[in-house]
Amino acid sequence: MTDKKAYLKVDGLEETFELPVLHGTEGPDVVDVRALTSKGLFTYDPGFVSTAACDSGITFIDGGKGILLHGGYPIEQLAEKSDYMEVCYLLLNGELPNAEQKAKFVSTIKNHTMVHEQLSHFFNGFRRDGHPMAIMCGVVGALSAFYHDSLDINDAHHREVCAFRLIAKIPTIAAMCYKYSIGMPFMYPRNDLNYAENFLYMMFGNPCEEYVPNPVLAKAMDKIFILHADHEQNASTSTVRLAGSSGANPFACIASGIAALWGPAHGGANEAVLTMLEEIGDAENIPEFIAKAKDPNDPFRLMGFGHRVYRNFDPRAKVMKVSCDEVLKELGLENDPLLKIAKELERIALEDEYFVERKLYPNVDFYSGIILKAIGIPTNMFTVIFALSRTIGWISHWNEFHSSPNRIGRPRQLYTGPAKRDYPG
Ligand code: CMC
Repeated sequence: MTDKKAYLKVDGLEETFELPVLHGTEGPDVVDVRALTSKGLFTYDPGFVSTAACDSGITFIDGGKGILLHGGYPIEQLAEKSDYMEVCYLLLNGELPNAEQKAKFVSTIKNHTMVHEQLSHFFNGFRRDGHPMAIMCGVVGALSAFYHDSLDINDAHHREVCAFRLIAKIPTIAAMCYKYSIGMPFMYPRNDLNYAENFLYMMFGNPCEEYVPNPVLAKAMDKIFILHADHEQNASTSTVRLAGSSGANPFACIASGIAALWGPAHGGANEAVLTMLEEIGDAENIPEFIAKAKDPNDPFRLMGFGHRVYRNFDPRAKVMKVSCDEVLKELGLENDPLLKIAKELERIALEDEYFVERKLYPNVDFYSGIILKAIGIPTNMFTVIFALSRTIGWISHWNEFHSSPNRIGRPRQLYTGPAKRDYPG
């Protein structure tokens, strides 16, 4: 809080409203408009473009400068020097772990990786060709029917256990969604492997053969997890916070986050990138698609380009691009036709006036989609992997919300329907 004030004068009203201006550690000041409702006024901000819905100490983004910090640490440094388990600890606790804390955290997560055996029967209720996001949404929501002993949202220990369970079980559930879709047996987690290796094992291992994880691919997978771990008050995180504000149980809240993430404007973009590349089909068709993207009367957009917050570049995309090149080289896929289209699209869009003027740079999902495809992950699993990575962000925000005084989220509206009228007759 500062002594700064903002003043609001509304035509037709005598009073000039004096509004406190709040000051965070980083980022723009915010005008505290809470008192306006008692004066008969609401603020109007569809899409929450200028609205700070909460205060939070987890993640900071400066979209203009292309900065993303978790607990104050730049994402580039975390991606280079840290690993996903450390980032999870940081997001949950606000500080990086020391060696002992990290060992304990990793061991705790490993001890929760299996799911209740009964949960595996739940999958049989779904069609095998159901979208894995639909299955994941249902199965994660159903966790509240299995883990009754961590559902007291007012108990900090319950909240912590619930976070451990979600971080540990979400890769197991994600891999089960995939194995179910291809009719292969579920693979029990292997606690001798690290988090990323274990996920690849559960995805690609089978009971008949030994599975040896490729270190380059496991490292790239870990980077994907880190780069998607949290992104402050995006649509899915805000959904989790809003669902949590009613006192809903944490598993239900995370299921709501998964549902919100699914859309192509958010987490569904990585899947949409690959669908778009397949639709383009050949580099010679690129100009046609670029023209469609630029046509204001055509709803088509270049998937994987642009971002609501990053108006300069997406710092995650820079890291992901390097990782993408490493993976393609490791797998000898530099000449894959689809990936060639992606590279050409990236080159043209970065030079084209329309995209440059609007600062529409490739975002994280442009490159993550290419990496996941190269690793052999089917397109419809891409958003599932985003959800897996983002679970730590969601549960950290949910926990932060419940760790301090709070109230139910209840946006207001500008009503534009019919004025009060009498029922005819
Ligand atoms: N292709 C073509 N034109 C675009 C694109 C695009 N991908 N993105 C924005 N524009 C244009 C838009 O038409 C508008 O043009 P004009 O000023 O002439 O009307 C201008 O750029 C500004 O766009 P906007 O709609 O105001 O931007 P927004 O902040 O509402 O939307 C976005 C952000 C990410 C939804 C949008 O850029 C988009 O749809 N991108 C493609 C989907 C995508 O890749 N999403 C993943 C985001 S990263 C993962 C995550 O964090 O969720």
